[in-house]
Amino acid sequence: MVAQTLFVTGTDTEVGKTRVACALLRGLVAAGERAVGYKPVASGCDKTPQGLRNEDALALMAAGSPGFTYDQINPYAFEPAIAPHIAAADVGVMIDIERLDGAHEMLAQQADWVVVEGAGGWHVPLAGTLDFATWASDHRWPVVLVVGMRLGCVNHALLSARAIAARTRLLGWVANTLPPVQPRLDDNLACLDTAMPAPHCARVRLDPPAGLAIDPRPWLAAPASVSG
Ligand SMILES: Nc1ncnc2c1ncn2[C@@H]1O[C@H](COP(=O)(O)OP(=O)(O)OP(=O)(O)O)[C@@H](O)[C@H]1O
Ligand SMILES: [Mg+2]
Repeated sequence: MVAQTLFVTGTDTEVGKTRVACALLRGLVAAGERAVGYKPVASGCDKTPQGLRNEDALALMAAGSPGFTYDQINPYAFEPAIAPHIAAADVGVMIDIERLDGAHEMLAQQADWVVVEGAGGWHVPLAGTLDFATWASDHRWPVVLVVGMRLGCVNHALLSARAIAARTRLLGWVANTLPPVQPRLDDNLACLDTAMPAPHCARVRLDPPAGLAIDPRPWLAAPASVSG
């Protein structure tokens, strides 16, 4: 079994990547697929008797198919809630791309789908000159861009979408309604619908049901988006 991987990024930190990634996992599981989340690098982890634990990775683990360990889903865990490459350097760790790839490969061999959640946005550094953008693009993973609907989102969404589409396949974008709901939400959505160089795949409303499930399989069947 070798999985299809989806890479979930966002217009910023705290825009709903985990919410959307979990909904994608639930959608795939509900469709009978074996799907696993992957949070390769997490900062902002809690100390527990089992080791460092990150709430994103735990949420992905709960939303995906059973049978995977925490360490498989989150190989790099750091305590401070700061940029991952800085958190790693503070504890003398160099994030190793072979370890990131090896952990992905293990998951991909045991699932139909791997849903990867990056950290922050598209160009967040990993180590040295390596960033999430390079890592995801080198694998040619299709990307889902989560747009956190708040003031400034149109600019962030267009910059992110163009940077992604220049390097790999931007499957589409998901509008995620953040609290407090921005004034003129519908006008901002209409603006993005016109300007974004990729399909508007889904809209997540404020406080969606805990079990929200989104099936991404039809998105992959659509023709590849153009860069622009
Ligand atoms: N549609 C929504 N309705 C209500 N609250 C939301 C919604 N989407 C996200 N939130 C809240 O916004 C916060 C950020 O969401 P989430 O953790 O999914 O973002 P993220 O992009 O994964 O963040 P990070 O960069 O830390 O990984 C959380 O407290 C979450 O509960
Ligand atoms: Mg997250």
